Amino acid sequence: MNTATDTRHLTPALSNKELDARRVAATPRGVGIGTPMYADRALNAELWDVEGRRFIDFAAGIAVLNTGHRHPKLIAAIQAQLERFTHTAYQVVPYESSVHLAERLNALTPGSHAKKTAFFTTGAEAVENAIKIARAHTRRPGVIALTGAFHGRTFMGMALTGKVVPYKVGFGPFPGSIFHVPAPTELHEVTVQDTLNAIQQIFKCDIEPTQVAAIILEPVQGEGGFYVMPSELMVALRALCDQHSILLIADEIQTGFARTGKMFAMDHHSVVPDLMTMAKSLAGGMPLSAVCGRAEVMDAPAPGGLGGTYAGNPLAIASAHAVLDVLEEEKLCERAERLGQVLKARLESLRTKVPQIAEIRGLGAMVAVEFNKADGSPDPEFTKLVQKRALDAGLILLTCGVYVNVIRFLFPLTIEDAVLAEGLDILATAMTA
Ligand SMILES: Cc1ncc(COP(=O)(O)O)c(C=O)c1O
Repeated sequence: MNTATDTRHLTPALSNKELDARRVAATPRGVGIGTPMYADRALNAELWDVEGRRFIDFAAGIAVLNTGHRHPKLIAAIQAQLERFTHTAYQVVPYESSVHLAERLNALTPGSHAKKTAFFTTGAEAVENAIKIARAHTRRPGVIALTGAFHGRTFMGMALTGKVVPYKVGFGPFPGSIFHVPAPTELHEVTVQDTLNAIQQIFKCDIEPTQVAAIILEPVQGEGGFYVMPSELMVALRALCDQHSILLIADEIQTGFARTGKMFAMDHHSVVPDLMTMAKSLAGGMPLSAVCGRAEVMDAPAPGGLGGTYAGNPLAIASAHAVLDVLEEEKLCERAERLGQVLKARLESLRTKVPQIAEIRGLGAMVAVEFNKADGSPDPEFTKLVQKRALDAGLILLTCGVYVNVIRFLFPLTIEDAVLAEGLDILATAMTA
């Protein structure tokens, strides 16, 4: 056997253009691509493409890299695990690191009640399993979600997602007993009371509350536009859920792990959810997701009802332990708060020069800016233009929002001050050019 390591796939001697021609020929267009360059290497908040060009990364793999690209502690933890074993299938031969991570998450998540955690691989899978667990516990089918929500690309994920284009187009029928109510968004004059009224309307027209298993929501909508769900909503939903024995599920897949200035976005509220989904920055780039919740709820499915071949992969678990250590050691909750303030102040300073700015909002470092036209309608063209100008100048930005008129900021919380300042200068030029 030839044991020499073949690294040709890691260092392609091709241009971005040549690679893109191969991509178009070899992979389906349904996997949409946001940037025209191909990654070669990355470190903290910087990324270099195969042609050697440097970019500042304000996307962080869509909220996955709160601890940055290739944090040395994560690399060391993954390497140490590589020396021991890479896969056993947890259901076949379990390992202590997984049990320990469950213990750590049970302690870190909001609420002092007894909790249990199950691991999966993707965010969508965590959502699927949260609904499975909620249905098994309540023995009810119904689930209520919010408009603008994003919960993943699997069938239940799609059904719960409150945005048709591009996520649901052509993929139906979806699982039944899923209902959507408007998300409260001050800018669009949808109040918390509107949301609560819509739930009552569902109870009247579609399904009785005793058949509803769960209400699921993102405490700050991610893909939907970084709308912060008010405390008033959380308190009212908790009371409604308690009244009808419905479970409250917080999807913290994008909001978790210090992004909002607290470990979880639900830590900003006085009420606790029954179940929480997490993924993305949990393992800093390794595929890992989790459902954490009330012990008695989590124990509803019978043995064998939960799991997956790769669920809780040992390398990803090792990485997640390092993420939790880094979040604490580098005080990344405090840092997120500070970075968010710096970003918001810079955006505010641009208001007079950029009349398209309709709102600057966010929690901690989970900040976004929404653009409207002079007549108050969404301005996706300007949003796209800012994104393109920024990319041309070496800054990777992500858009979001039902009308794709929002730029969201997701830079690593470990970003160096100088790199952040450089990125913000590029952003300011892109918005004002
Ligand atoms: C809130 C939320 N839930 C679920 C998902 C789905 O996660 P994944 O893409 O890992 O399946 C995402 C991904 O963007 C998300 O932001």
